[in-house]
Amino acid sequence: MNRGYKSIVFLISGTAALGGLLFGLDQGFIANSLPTIQAVYRLDTRGAEGYSSILATGGVIGALLSGLLARFLGRKRSLILAGFIFTAGSLLSAFLLPLGAMMACRAALGFAVGIASFNVPLYLSETAPTRIRGSMGTLFQLMITIGIFLISLTSVFIARVVVSPERALPLMFGVIVVFATLMFLGSLFLPESPRWLMLQGRKEEAIGVLRRILATEEEVAAEIADIEASVGTGGSSGRIVFKRYFLKVLVVGVLLQMFQQLVGINVMIYYAPRIFGFAGLTGIVAMLTVPTVNMIFTFPAIRLVEKWGRKKLLYVGAVCMFVSMVAAGAAFRVIGASGDPSAAGKVPAVILLVSVIVYIFGFAVSWGPVAWVVCSEIFPIQGREVGMTITTMVNWTFAGLLMNNSLTFMQEHGNSSIFFVFSGFCLLAILFVAGFVPETKGISLERIEADLKAGKRMRDLGRV
Ligand code: BGC
Repeated sequence: MNRGYKSIVFLISGTAALGGLLFGLDQGFIANSLPTIQAVYRLDTRGAEGYSSILATGGVIGALLSGLLARFLGRKRSLILAGFIFTAGSLLSAFLLPLGAMMACRAALGFAVGIASFNVPLYLSETAPTRIRGSMGTLFQLMITIGIFLISLTSVFIARVVVSPERALPLMFGVIVVFATLMFLGSLFLPESPRWLMLQGRKEEAIGVLRRILATEEEVAAEIADIEASVGTGGSSGRIVFKRYFLKVLVVGVLLQMFQQLVGINVMIYYAPRIFGFAGLTGIVAMLTVPTVNMIFTFPAIRLVEKWGRKKLLYVGAVCMFVSMVAAGAAFRVIGASGDPSAAGKVPAVILLVSVIVYIFGFAVSWGPVAWVVCSEIFPIQGREVGMTITTMVNWTFAGLLMNNSLTFMQEHGNSSIFFVFSGFCLLAILFVAGFVPETKGISLERIEADLKAGKRMRDLGRV
């Protein structure tokens, strides 16, 4: 009975890894491929913004439909679909299609990222053995950051070795094709989520899957009883969205994802090489600093999210981001006032570099993983699919809004202005956490749900 245990758990975590990795590969692709894309497709600033943000537009639609897909197609088939679109979209893009078709491929890739960002955490939380379930939310984020790092590294390398943009671009897409194919093939061999099988009334198959994952018959029986109890409460129900307690929790989830984007993370990730360029910093440092720091500091989050708790991390992160955005804005102002980056001297450029590093550290260790983790914890079981669909969509909507407007905003209001705007959002985020976010560390999901239904204030959920 235990023979398949190791390999199946490995397959499950590996697919999670690949789903997150593709999210990161496609998201991170923009930063270092942008100059190459602009050269090949002759895009101006507006065109570059459009190219950057169309992924997010696809992400919003993917997230919107993913709840329905997950319910009707099932979790496994949704993942296969995402893997297929990832593979086809990046393969087609490698043929340097005309601009319109290339943008359609980007939108399709965004659609797949939207499906993955909803389905992978859902599939994992429903399928992975309990003892590794907790760290899976953070693992997903870690893989996003590894994807962003990997694509930056390979893009920088390719752009240096292959000088012609027309020849470099297909290779950059080729890197994504490799991992997308792995995800597509890997998901064909996944077991279906036992919880979804139970929702479909396919109990025997659900037991079969659990036998392959869990070590003993007792564990299988206990898990089936748990699932039966929660499925018995009705699974996901449309009517819950009209309940006051659901709306309360929804507003908190929505604001959490909104602030995760409004602190400016993707502007720093997508446009870091450009931002450094304004300050006269170019080359490898400008291209790899952000993805490297982002990846490295997501590792400590895996432990700290359980040790310090969610709220403390959110505070620490927001304070780091606030201070560093003010410093970066000031450095930019000095650089801008001198008219020529080299005339401003080394000090503002060093301040800029250090503050971007502190900023990325602040995000990676806190808001990056914690926003997703808390959103997967606070919704009552009946409204989890709806709640996570809406909060994931909000995340992508704000990512797209920022992508689509930030370069123009910097052109119109001065490069430094956007940093001050982000610092303002960091302050608001701190107030929001203090006033409304509950500490969910170590509190069972049932307890959170019971407190919510008993009418407790959001920030007091789980407190005695
Ligand atoms: C965010 C993405 C961001 C990534 C960076 C994720 O949590 O949702 O928008 O690009 O973190 O690591």
